[in-house]
Amino acid sequence: MLTDDADIPVIDRATLDRVIAVANGKGGVGKTTLAANVAGLAAADDAQVLVVDLNGQGNLSLDLGIRNTDVDDDGEALAEAIVQGAALKPVRGVRPRLDVCVGGTAIGHLPALLASRYQLQPEVQALQLAVSLQQVAGQYDLVVIDSPPENPPLQQLALAATRWLAVPVRSDRASINDGLGGIARQFALVRKRVNPALELLGVVLFASGSSSKAIRREVRRDVEAVLGAEAPMFTTVVRHSEAVAKQARDRGLLVHELEQEAANNPAFWKLRTGEADRSQVVSATSASVAEDLAGLTREMFGRMADLEGAGA
Ligand SMILES: Nc1ncnc2c1ncn2[C@@H]1O[C@H](COP(=O)(O)OP(=O)(O)OP(=O)(O)O)[C@@H](O)[C@H]1O
Ligand SMILES: [Mg+2]
Repeated sequence: MLTDDADIPVIDRATLDRVIAVANGKGGVGKTTLAANVAGLAAADDAQVLVVDLNGQGNLSLDLGIRNTDVDDDGEALAEAIVQGAALKPVRGVRPRLDVCVGGTAIGHLPALLASRYQLQPEVQALQLAVSLQQVAGQYDLVVIDSPPENPPLQQLALAATRWLAVPVRSDRASINDGLGGIARQFALVRKRVNPALELLGVVLFASGSSSKAIRREVRRDVEAVLGAEAPMFTTVVRHSEAVAKQARDRGLLVHELEQEAANNPAFWKLRTGEADRSQVVSATSASVAEDLAGLTREMFGRMADLEGAGA
């Protein structure tokens, strides 16, 4: 059976114009950290925000501190809504104004379920998240979709449901070539077949150990070699700190929340006397990483507004 145009769901793209997908073909480049923190910072700044975890691993739940709590259904509700084309049913208020569609194992099974339900209709499969999201997107000022590495069907679902793509990269050339190359192919395919509204919001250098201009120039050249000379780079760089990353994920806190915890650090003399131990001390670098993430969030909103203005 060939796909009949009449079967392709109609998407009202205007309802999805404040949706950002965070994607990169490669693993471990900062997708989940950015999705969670950008969503959390926007919510802390009074926006009504939804974050969707389209991952079989469900790491977003770790970053938000809801893994293995009673709202963690391992992606069941999200997967079911997408397969049925039903409205998403987010968990409400994981933070003030922040709702979440929880990911997990059920999302890993989603591509096979969609393929069997909508056989030989790749466009219909790709649009199922868009169908579910457009029924609730009007309630939000911002929707952020976190996506998995090396999984074209799930990446296509994310890209078909979004207006904007944000791509974190690490500074090494191999990760830029593989990761960016992979997502650039999915981007071109989805834009051509199901989502002409899709735009690249920008590429962000993530967990960089160096603020040197030479490194940034080199990364820009590598990114341009893959995406072309128009490749928009964010000027904000998220600096490297393993201590902050580990403390945030271990405690289920966003980085700006970790920074607030630093105010409760034990007094230095308590460490000396053994009344407190070092594991209780929040890294002072949390303030710098939080500042980077806040700068990036502002830049994203600014760029969306600029691009929308230019297109109007
Ligand atoms: N500022 C930082 N500096 C150094 N490491 C960081 C920083 N922020 C996060 N990390 C760590 O980098 C690793 C990858 O981050 P993250 O999970 O966000 O990437 P990802 O692209 O979502 O990975 P995956 O492809 O596995 O889903 C994690 O171990 C995370 O704790
Ligand atoms: Mg991730």
